[in-house]
Amino acid sequence: MVCLEICLAILGLAVLIYKWSTATHNAFDGRGVYFEKPRPFFGNMGASILFRTSFQKQLSKLYNRTKQYKIVGLFSFRTPMIQLNDPEIIKKICIKDFDHFPNHPSFIQSNERLLNDMLSMMTDQRWKHMRNTLTPVFTAAKMRSMFALMDDSFGECLEHLSGLSKGSKSGEGIELDMKVLCNKLSNDLIATTAFGLKVNSFETPDNEFYRIGQSLTFSRGSQLFKFMLSIIVPKVFLFFNLKIFNGQKVEYFVRLVVDAMKYREEHNINRPDMIQLLMESKKENENNWTDDEIVAQCFIFFFAAFENNANLICTTSLELLENPDIQQRLYEEVKEIQESLKGGSLTYDAVQKMKYMDMVISESLRKWTLAAATDRLCSKDYTLTDEDGTKLFDFKVGDRVNIPIVGLHWDDQYFPEPRKFDPERFSDERKNDLVPYTYLPFGVGPRNCIGNRYALMQVKGMLYNLLIRYKIERSPKTVKDLWEEARGFNLAPKAGYWMRLVPRKQIN
Ligand code: HEM
Ligand SMILES: *[C@@H]1O[C@H](CO)[C@@H](O)[C@H](O)[C@H]1NC(C)=O
Ligand SMILES: *[C@@H]1O[C@H](CO)[C@@H](O)[C@H](O)[C@H]1NC(C)=O
Repeated sequence: MVCLEICLAILGLAVLIYKWSTATHNAFDGRGVYFEKPRPFFGNMGASILFRTSFQKQLSKLYNRTKQYKIVGLFSFRTPMIQLNDPEIIKKICIKDFDHFPNHPSFIQSNERLLNDMLSMMTDQRWKHMRNTLTPVFTAAKMRSMFALMDDSFGECLEHLSGLSKGSKSGEGIELDMKVLCNKLSNDLIATTAFGLKVNSFETPDNEFYRIGQSLTFSRGSQLFKFMLSIIVPKVFLFFNLKIFNGQKVEYFVRLVVDAMKYREEHNINRPDMIQLLMESKKENENNWTDDEIVAQCFIFFFAAFENNANLICTTSLELLENPDIQQRLYEEVKEIQESLKGGSLTYDAVQKMKYMDMVISESLRKWTLAAATDRLCSKDYTLTDEDGTKLFDFKVGDRVNIPIVGLHWDDQYFPEPRKFDPERFSDERKNDLVPYTYLPFGVGPRNCIGNRYALMQVKGMLYNLLIRYKIERSPKTVKDLWEEARGFNLAPKAGYWMRLVPRKQIN
């Protein structure tokens, strides 16, 4: 008898869970929009959540299957979203009628310290004020002075490489996982430019900043698990008052910034980094940002910059080793710039002069779309119409919008032969052929990426330094086909970004 009761209880629970997992699936009923049949729990995202493919490839496929519809419904886990497959509509929603869609949906329901204070999570007026506070921090002028800090970290990275190359047999070069190298670089750059702290992860790989920083990123281990849990069952997460981040670790970063601000105030110290820029704009703006609100903006670097910047160097290096002609042409440009500097170190303005570098990076961001998609939340009802005024869809408050960046970047209607790495797409002659709002590596409109200058400066600066000294070549462990082999949400081969760096003769 007991056995029967237990069996019934389990069965009952299973039915409840199934019901719950599919409870949102009628979201598009009667709303006149095409959508693909979702699966329980995973919606239309199962393949990448279960690591059978990459998020990029999955979204591109979904876009390909549905692109005859200008808008289409989809389910991300249990959450219904409305995807915009048409560039003109993207422009309407992200720019012209931005007022109706001013926020990102909050993807986590949690009263997490710092998380809700980050610019990307802020909403409406509060977001606007913070965005205005931060915009002057990321201008070209500010980046110019920050570049010197970056250059120091590049130097330490290169020193590390030259140590490795001395240890290797002559001519063979260094075989390394570029991602490991770039993670260290990313870390040191964030420490110095955002937190005002000098660390050298090449010499002391186990430094405190690196350890604590890594334990806070979402992309792996228990952090990823807690993150997923907060998305899948937000109510459970809230009910038990669970936290994604460990409080002590968060406190470490808060102290770092708060103490630095105090120390600088007292000793009148200037250092061209985020802390200083935030201190300045705090004074100018008369916004009373709390310490947490300030620290949260430094924190963004871990989530927005760490992985993206490192991956961008990796994907670009991979393309350069696969396309020796492009690498050679880029090397010649880099060489030219080096000569024009007459022995001086690289500057922000010299980086801006590298035209071919910009084309290569642009194409890298096109083909290897690091942000596969972005989103918006409808905060005022909105009727979407076609050019001729016919109604396409009624957006209601709370509707989530998906912008399929990777779908557009891999659509041969906009980018012929999307698999081909072709920097010429971004040449002066051909740039004008690009269809507006189809190339969106940093998003679009007032809510776009605020850190794009920082990212480009870092990646171009590092590639300059790398190419001037090394030729990037294939190693036996180099990934064969990244598009096929990448899995999950992080565009990276499972075994790592292995490649070989062969020293060039003319090292100065
Ligand atoms: C290659 C590197 C990067 C890529 C591909 C990237 C991409 C993006 C994308 C697609 C968005 C969403 C834009 C939209 O919804 O329209 C975004 C937002 C954002 N990014 Fe980046 N990003 C990068 C680096 C950085 C860096 C270095 C920072 C440093 C501060 C940063 C800070 C932010 C912030 C704060 C937002 C939210 C802006 C807002 O809500 O107002 N990103 N990024
Ligand atoms: C800033 O804070 C002070 C004291 O906490 C308060 O009197 C003032 O109104 C605040 N200003 C703004 C702009 O919120
Ligand atoms: C989507 O279609 C394009 C052609 O427009 C193709 O090149 C691309 O590989 C397709 N994406 C996937 C994931 O199959």
